[in-house]
Amino acid sequence: YLIGIDIGTSGTKTVLFDERGNTVASSTVEYDMAQPEIGWAEQDPEDWWKATCQSLREVIGKSGINVDEIKGIGLSGQMHGAVLLDKDGNVLRSAIIWCDQRSSAECEEITDIIGYGRLIELAANPALTGFTAPKVMWVKKHQPEIFEKIAHILLPKDYIRYRLTGEFATEVSDASGTLFLNVKERKWSREIVEKLGLNIEWLPEVYESHVVSGKVCKKAAESTGLKEGTPVVGGGGDQAAGAVGNGIVKKGLVSSTIGTSGVVFAYTDKVTIDPKGRVHTFCHAIPDTWHVMGVTQGAGLSLKWWRDNFGFEEKTLGSLTGTDPYVYMDKEAEQAQPGCGGLIYLPYLMGERTPHLDPYAKGVFFGLTAKHRRQEVIRSVLEGVVFSLRDCLEIIKGMGIPVEEIRASGGGGRSRIWRQIQADVFKTDIVTINSAEGPALGVALLAGVGTGLYSSVVEACDAVIKRVSVQHPNQSLFDVYEKNYRLYTALYPAVKDLY
Ligand code: XUL
Repeated sequence: YLIGIDIGTSGTKTVLFDERGNTVASSTVEYDMAQPEIGWAEQDPEDWWKATCQSLREVIGKSGINVDEIKGIGLSGQMHGAVLLDKDGNVLRSAIIWCDQRSSAECEEITDIIGYGRLIELAANPALTGFTAPKVMWVKKHQPEIFEKIAHILLPKDYIRYRLTGEFATEVSDASGTLFLNVKERKWSREIVEKLGLNIEWLPEVYESHVVSGKVCKKAAESTGLKEGTPVVGGGGDQAAGAVGNGIVKKGLVSSTIGTSGVVFAYTDKVTIDPKGRVHTFCHAIPDTWHVMGVTQGAGLSLKWWRDNFGFEEKTLGSLTGTDPYVYMDKEAEQAQPGCGGLIYLPYLMGERTPHLDPYAKGVFFGLTAKHRRQEVIRSVLEGVVFSLRDCLEIIKGMGIPVEEIRASGGGGRSRIWRQIQADVFKTDIVTINSAEGPALGVALLAGVGTGLYSSVVEACDAVIKRVSVQHPNQSLFDVYEKNYRLYTALYPAVKDLY
């Protein structure tokens, strides 16, 4: 057996797989995100650890297997968050996580210090509020009493690795999102770290993603029910790990993932950079390969925001009582016409990365009339998120990266209507595969490679991942979506100065 643990934004999901990648047992434990001010986002690393312990115990209990039979563990998680520890390994403040937007001044400062061109040469990406380095620089400026105690900087999943194994380690895919990594050479950039007045000793060892980085320690074995000594491989940031779990390990394959954020991810066999920095260029979780990805901040987050604040209307849906709220919302969206009678939603609830790189961007509903019902509004949320993913796809295509097949994944990828909107707006077939476990499967496969079960990541994916459905675009809808997409792309430039 292999285990994949994904420390997500809304919860930690632990999945036990057999050696063919079939899910044997799974458990998700949710937690909250604190928003102390508009645009800020923090989580307590202790919540991730508690959720990891609980979900591991549940999975082991449910499956009834003997823990001796778990051959390896892979870790995945939300990228970019800054977990700051003192010299004794204690957490110094709650983690400032990926979607936190407070650090735009620090991004400018980093660009001034390193120089834009040099930053792209080394880190392959511009300084963005999402990344780790600006968050650390914010602490340096605003919380010097905390900054001076820093002895370790870890990413979210790597904090869990520390609790599981006692090791300070990361791997190339997640390290790429810090702005501290030389993405081409796949090692820390001493130049960046030292010019920013930080200490390279604070950064953990960087491994390739399939390599064993440590073993479950005695204390963690007691807290989780795992066997002491079980190997833990590098794993991957949730996007690279999800790509492995979707088989995005060859040229021409692209995934479109709707989790809290939305990501269009393409495999590349060399470092390929968008000169405008609108998509990220990171190491893939496979040696000597890279990827590009466009990120929209508020994808699943938009629908969750709707669910939490406006919910769904049970009375119009009668017999579905007890069903997942997202299924209700899909049913409501199906009652609206494609194009929503001209209602357009910009999903910038937490600022936006691709294509605008604007932490101050905000959500917009445009084109409301007295004829619009809640059904159209929900559908416009689904469509607006897909328009933002199309922005990502257009940039990737424009970089000359081949797009032969798009695989849908993430929570949003489970929605048939959301997949169909993607097919119609992207004008491309949308494929689903035999597993919806994404990042958890990806890192379990990496654990399979690291412990010798598979000879390579490509071999593991070929053995495990199969296509199960294809949805074709509906040509009769191209015009209506094209018209709305044109309006969508015109809206941000029209309102951005008003934010
Ligand atoms: C990727 C990104 C998100 C987070 C949270 O750059 O910020 O995908 O990893 O899922």
